[in-house]
Amino acid sequence: MGDRTFLAGMFTFLSGSYLRRPQLAQAGISVRKPNLLKKLLAFREEGKMMVFNKQQEVKHLRLLVIGDVVGRSGRRAVKENVSSLKKEFKLNFVIANGENAAGGKGITEETARELFSSGVDVLTMGNHVWHKKEAYEYLDRETKIIRPANFPPGVPGLGAAVYDLPGEIKIGVINIEGRIFQQAIDCPFRKADALILKMREKTRIIIVDFHAEATSEKVAMGWYLAGRVSAVVGTHTHVQTADERILPGGTAYITDLGMTGPMDSVIGVNKDIAIQKFLTQIPQYFEVASGPFQFNGVIIDIDESTGEAVTIERIQNYE
Ligand code: FE2
Repeated sequence: MGDRTFLAGMFTFLSGSYLRRPQLAQAGISVRKPNLLKKLLAFREEGKMMVFNKQQEVKHLRLLVIGDVVGRSGRRAVKENVSSLKKEFKLNFVIANGENAAGGKGITEETARELFSSGVDVLTMGNHVWHKKEAYEYLDRETKIIRPANFPPGVPGLGAAVYDLPGEIKIGVINIEGRIFQQAIDCPFRKADALILKMREKTRIIIVDFHAEATSEKVAMGWYLAGRVSAVVGTHTHVQTADERILPGGTAYITDLGMTGPMDSVIGVNKDIAIQKFLTQIPQYFEVASGPFQFNGVIIDIDESTGEAVTIERIQNYE
């Protein structure tokens, strides 16, 4: 990744956040991009990128949550972005959805380890979690992978876990899957209720990856959990939505994080094959596309003492 590309990505990220801040508009401050760029570059040199955060005195936990990592191209995007983002933004924790990491469907021990060594702390999953049978045994012993919690009891793996961070901070991660246009699994809303109730005995910092197809189901989940968790982030649909916000009660929300995978593809699949399927309606063997990557996710700042999210900012980087 060239420095110019990286800088362009950072500029997109920061200018978006800056220009959107309502208090600036209310104060009648107009922002011109050339000045803004100069400021951003200066802040970058000073190593204090989040200077816009008015609540700096509050201790913040800063997370990067990466959207669905698809195939080889997605894993490469993680490798080429996460360590620099960690340094640049002083990230405390990195979560990635890895349900498409191995050949576009499922996860294997090898691909999971590759993502962990690229800087990911925890992997969440989704409807493709069972695609690689050889991974079932691995899911049972790997505590850093979380699969949808609302599958029937007794299936391999963990649906939720609490992780220890330096400074006696605990962060809970929950993965649930939607039911609209998905499998008929247990109710994600009631499952989330039960898990959150238990988890809040240990920590108020809770991140929920809601892996769902329907926008309405995701939005409903955001409102349902508002004020009870630090963040609800949507995954599965592979196109980043522009609706990130802090819901009442300090819950960061976005309908979909977007995909981290091949740029020129149909949500990760070879575009010619996908088009053929639409044209003919004949089932096709889908292949993961190759080529340049896109990297999508959000950075969330959370007040360590209350568990409330303070900011959520979209981040995108293109190769
Ligand atoms: Fe999915």
